[in-house]
Amino acid sequence: MARVSLFSLTFATLLSFVGAQRAASTEWDAAYVKAEAAIANLSLSEKVILTTGVSGNPLYSTLFMPIRTIGEGYFSSSCTGNIASIGNISFPGICLQDSALGVKSTQGNSAFPAGITVAATWNRTLMYLRGVAMGEEFRGKGVNVQLGPYMNLMRLPASGRAWEGFGADPYLSGEGAYQSVLGIQSRGVQAVAKHFINNEQERSRASSSSNVDDRTEHELYLHPFLRSMQANVAAVMCSYINNSYACENNATLNGYLKGELGFRGWVMSDWYATHSTADAANHGLDVTMPGDVLPGSGISWFGETLAIAVDVGTVNQSRVDDMATRILAAWYLLGQDQDYPTPNLGSGGPDVQGDHASLIRTIDAAGTVLLKNDKGVLPLTAPRSIAVIGNGAGSNPSGPNACADRSCDDGVLGMGWGSGTANYPYLIAPIDAITNRSQTTNTTVVPSLSDSDLNAAATAGTGTDVALVFITADSGEFGYIVEWTDGDRNNLNAWHNGDDLVQKVASVNNNTIVIVNTVGPIIVDAWIDHPNVTGLIWSGLPGQEAGNGLIDVLWGDYNPSGRLPYTIAKNQSDYPAQVNFNISLTTLQIPYSEGLFIDYRHFDQANIEPRYEFGFGLSYTTFDYSGISVSGSVTSGSNYNATAVGASLDASLHESAVSVTFTLQNNGTVAGHEIPQLYVTFPSSLNEPPYVLKGFDSVFLVPGQFEQVTFNLSPYDLSYWNVETQMWEVSSAGEIGVTIGASSRDHRLFGQITLQ
Ligand code: NOJ
Repeated sequence: MARVSLFSLTFATLLSFVGAQRAASTEWDAAYVKAEAAIANLSLSEKVILTTGVSGNPLYSTLFMPIRTIGEGYFSSSCTGNIASIGNISFPGICLQDSALGVKSTQGNSAFPAGITVAATWNRTLMYLRGVAMGEEFRGKGVNVQLGPYMNLMRLPASGRAWEGFGADPYLSGEGAYQSVLGIQSRGVQAVAKHFINNEQERSRASSSSNVDDRTEHELYLHPFLRSMQANVAAVMCSYINNSYACENNATLNGYLKGELGFRGWVMSDWYATHSTADAANHGLDVTMPGDVLPGSGISWFGETLAIAVDVGTVNQSRVDDMATRILAAWYLLGQDQDYPTPNLGSGGPDVQGDHASLIRTIDAAGTVLLKNDKGVLPLTAPRSIAVIGNGAGSNPSGPNACADRSCDDGVLGMGWGSGTANYPYLIAPIDAITNRSQTTNTTVVPSLSDSDLNAAATAGTGTDVALVFITADSGEFGYIVEWTDGDRNNLNAWHNGDDLVQKVASVNNNTIVIVNTVGPIIVDAWIDHPNVTGLIWSGLPGQEAGNGLIDVLWGDYNPSGRLPYTIAKNQSDYPAQVNFNISLTTLQIPYSEGLFIDYRHFDQANIEPRYEFGFGLSYTTFDYSGISVSGSVTSGSNYNATAVGASLDASLHESAVSVTFTLQNNGTVAGHEIPQLYVTFPSSLNEPPYVLKGFDSVFLVPGQFEQVTFNLSPYDLSYWNVETQMWEVSSAGEIGVTIGASSRDHRLFGQITLQ
């Protein structure tokens, strides 16, 4: 139990400064004063340098050199993206580097658990500490801007990159985004909220239109960005989405982001997602990345082209001033003008891992979701023998970094593929961790690390006390084809015929425990009700400490407290929307016709029984919920201007108006964390989903211990977006119900919120 006490110590010491909202405007005000003073010393040519990634092509300078003098350092990109230096204001330039789970394309870094795994902890402290640790590593490498966190929602269960983010619910994703930004920026690194907006599938991402109604946009997809604003996020990346292009969309950039959400930092394009000069600049884009129009083209939509646009009057000088000011203001906001290390991502660069391995292991254990545990087969006590079966328990024979940007599924799956990855410093395979841990219980380990050799699997599984079967499902960014999968998954099946492997082992061993490393939901119905499948562990995407986090849960050194950040259905067709794989000669239209009803919201509304619901997860102990009381009230029919939400963080819209208190007791036999969840039920005439998550906590209790837990709700939490008035509004249609429970379907306590 040593790890548990370490974990609670972390809680006690850190909770005090986690979650407090910062006084955003005063910090930005001070940064703007400095930025405006610096901008006053810049020529137009220098200002456009700030707005343009370093394109890496000298032709660019040759073309424009006769017209203007171009700033130094314009031609070499050492990071994923760079902004060049400007000598006369001592601005050393900016290095931007992927990814959302660690410093990409270098060495001496950690490979952190993916966003989807930290989301599964439902633990704000761990979300924050992961951000802090990543921030330390990016800073240590001299990176100014971390290209994360990712906060597009898992609208589609097969979405290729949803694993980079925080799952299928806006509130949970908002908390993940908020804590990640606070953590990263606490170390002086600029965080980037991405991708703005509606990049929920990879297929056709640059040639599709996500058609989202205004209410759904506000209540679902904008929310994690709003929370990022509240954490003072420095930058936002606009997405590839077309029609009109997200990086020149006036309604989303100037309207939602800089208007309603009051964003004061800078908007960068996703790589090659800029498509114009005047439209992009006038509609809200501040920086084009990586700089050139096409790779190696030597021409930029911004840079000197932007200066010429000012000369001919299609872009106002004041707009370029604003663009440049925003970039410098973010740089000052994070104190990057003071002793910031210079970029050093090359082979001789510093080792920045510190002691992050132990945090990663803690997050892995806390993000592991126990879904099935028949007759308490887990935790393992002292089995005489364990079979360890499946390729996913082993190592890639060519090393964990053998495939470019992790574009293969061989050995334990610690992350998906694409730009959202990092190199592993090492990768603990389950077979190694299990073999080590087994020595302490004198357990014999019988391995069979092939997915295809079913006879070997059956032989290994025959006669052992326990058979652990490892299966996987992988996905990633568009443009990498891995086992016939181009970004988004083609289906929700386990890869490598994982269902056959499980069934084969279950046919010979009556204590078969399945361990799933996956980017998202898979369908488990081929075998989940097999009487010999006694356990199911959802191990997520744990990064470098994969095997260690797993054994902590298997042997009960950590009492599982992970909860699903998405729904696992019985059939893929039960989900409300699927990846649109159509091919279109024009822009592919993707209607978000399910509206507010994504993931559990749809299953609840349509009365479809999921296999495992959003928010579900088992523990080795049990908890009792009692004594709910609701105090405070909201005013029926009260409404709030959209701009009050983001720009003015002290607005009454975000203050606590209602408190919901109850008593939580550990009435089982081992210590552990419970994740109480609060769901709101709006009056039916609003056509909201039956239950909407608006609160959660992670509470550690020893056996017998009880604690009063309080959730605070603001008017914003209890409002819907009124498309006619364009305001947030507390409905006057009737009472708002509130439930407290252990998942989106396990409601234990019920209350009513008073409307005045
Ligand atoms: C494209 C990806 O969509 C984005 O997330 C990433 O940060 C950039 N490429 C840079 O690699």
